[in-house]
Amino acid sequence: PTPSVGAPRAEIGVIGGSGLYEFLDEHETVEVDTPFGAPSDPLVVGEVSGRRVAFVARHGKGHRFAPHQVNYRANLWALRAVGVRQVIAPCAVGSLRAEHGPGTFVVPDQIIDRTWGRAHTFYDVEGPVVHVGFADPYCPRGRAVAVAAARGSAHDVADGGTLVVINGPRFSSRAESRMNQQAGGTIVGMTTMPEAVLARELAMCFTSLAMVTDYDSGIDGGAAVTHEEVMRVFARNVEDLKVVLRDVIAGLPTAEPDATATCPCRHSLDGIELPFP
Ligand code: ADE
Repeated sequence: PTPSVGAPRAEIGVIGGSGLYEFLDEHETVEVDTPFGAPSDPLVVGEVSGRRVAFVARHGKGHRFAPHQVNYRANLWALRAVGVRQVIAPCAVGSLRAEHGPGTFVVPDQIIDRTWGRAHTFYDVEGPVVHVGFADPYCPRGRAVAVAAARGSAHDVADGGTLVVINGPRFSSRAESRMNQQAGGTIVGMTTMPEAVLARELAMCFTSLAMVTDYDSGIDGGAAVTHEEVMRVFARNVEDLKVVLRDVIAGLPTAEPDATATCPCRHSLDGIELPFP
């Protein structure tokens, strides 16, 4: 069995960060309890671009949960439980590359996970050992749709890039920032891990849409980043982000059975019997 609370109510999930809490115009609130506790906030389910969408506020109402405090397992489980099979996850990031300035949309194609102490798997219950593949952490179809949608905006767009996810809640030291650059990082953030792997563990497609809010502190010895700056730049761009998100939602593949889905995400659990009750 997989997580489910009756008939599917949404096909696309949005894990919204700061400033996206009122993303859906017409909506109902759906409380979902999960074996891992409650999501950050009740799901908001409604229609966007003619598609059924479930939204979860990553940090909860009033930004209650810092990145290391978010119940990522409950959020992903709850989305899956209402029928979601494709997740789009906007996030604010710092840039590790001079060519990607604030306001750039980056649709990453790789992850370096430097988080710790977060619950990174659903499969620590009794049952079969599950090792999902994560060589390509993002849905190739979702990425293509996100890149096309972002290119429809007036913003610079980077198709691909490596997202380094740090644990936070502090920003990086200059040495850490340089190390993340040298490791091949393009951008640095504090969220979307373990979201991406938890999505893969439930055979859901996952696409990140990162908005650059600052140059991370190691870049050219520039000014140190502040939370205030991140929030200000994100707020300035959030309306454009919403437009792009609507276009992504409109462009994502329509609901389809796993058997015919051509992306690897949907086949991550092929042949595995899930241990959940
Ligand atoms: N989110 C936005 N900017 C960031 C930065 N420079 N480092 C980590 N997370 C961020």
